Amino acid sequence: MNNRRVIVKIPASTANLGPGFDTLGMALSLYAWVEMCISDQTEFQFYGDHMKGLPKDKSNLLYKVAQLVFKEAGVEVPELSISMHSDIPLTRGLGSSATAIVGALVAANALIGSPLTNDKLFQMATTLEGHPDNVGASLFGGIIVSAWDGERADYIRIEPHESLTTLVAIPAFQLSTEKARHALPSQVSMADAVFNVSRSSLLVAALAGGELGMIRHAMKDRLHQPYRAALIPGMSAILESAVEHGALGVALSGAGPTLIAFVDDRTNGKPLEQFLLDMLKQEGIEAKTLWLSPCVNGPQVTVEDILKQPAIPLPDRIKGEMKL
Ligand code: HSE
Repeated sequence: MNNRRVIVKIPASTANLGPGFDTLGMALSLYAWVEMCISDQTEFQFYGDHMKGLPKDKSNLLYKVAQLVFKEAGVEVPELSISMHSDIPLTRGLGSSATAIVGALVAANALIGSPLTNDKLFQMATTLEGHPDNVGASLFGGIIVSAWDGERADYIRIEPHESLTTLVAIPAFQLSTEKARHALPSQVSMADAVFNVSRSSLLVAALAGGELGMIRHAMKDRLHQPYRAALIPGMSAILESAVEHGALGVALSGAGPTLIAFVDDRTNGKPLEQFLLDMLKQEGIEAKTLWLSPCVNGPQVTVEDILKQPAIPLPDRIKGEMKL
């Protein structure tokens, strides 16, 4: 009998960073926790507002993803006890589904002694999510530059500049990635493609070289943001003028509706925060702001012996670390 209890803390993420559609991602200091152990009977405990309504049977995503790990490793673990708490709002563009996938992959792998490499987990996570940007950031931490051809995902990690922080404005309404991807055209012009290749390249060079002043010129996009703007009232005006209110650059976070401003933490961010809230309010959009720093670590894994360490309900275990 396997006596392991595994607890994994996984960072949220922002994808695209403006021009790097399905390519760039950055891990953020907002977290989800997955606890997993082998059990006589499959059971789920979900905590927090963002977990309401999720299935508590074997159709659950966490369970299904864990089974993929066991299958890949050639072991059978049919019954699991799974707990999860998430501070990451669902369908807002902060990578909540990627954290669930990465959390289940990493927890299941640790439960059976980590036979799968991180690269293998990245391949599996990318296939499950359909793009590597969010899962790469949650799995490796920091800033991720990635590419996927449908078979293999590759990435390079960039250490975020020590003064880089972010301000996110999270609208109260949800926007599914599916709907936000549906708004995109199937073809773009050569001029728009060149526009994005140049900005994305410039952004990667700026982030890698710590050239924070270049972000305002590089964090521009013509592949997805203009098409998604209609789904997020106030977004176009914010993208146009946030740098005049203290942002280094601003973008739609993932598929939205959250907007993310990159900020130099040595500057006063209050005027920017007020600007974002005012612009959204003018459009009748209720939103909350959060200051999130880049998370430089991937998942933090704790493995316990269930015979030696008594079970502690997940919320009690992570008390003091929870944000929302
Ligand atoms: N790159 C993805 C998109 C991230 O923009 O659709 C959201 O899942």
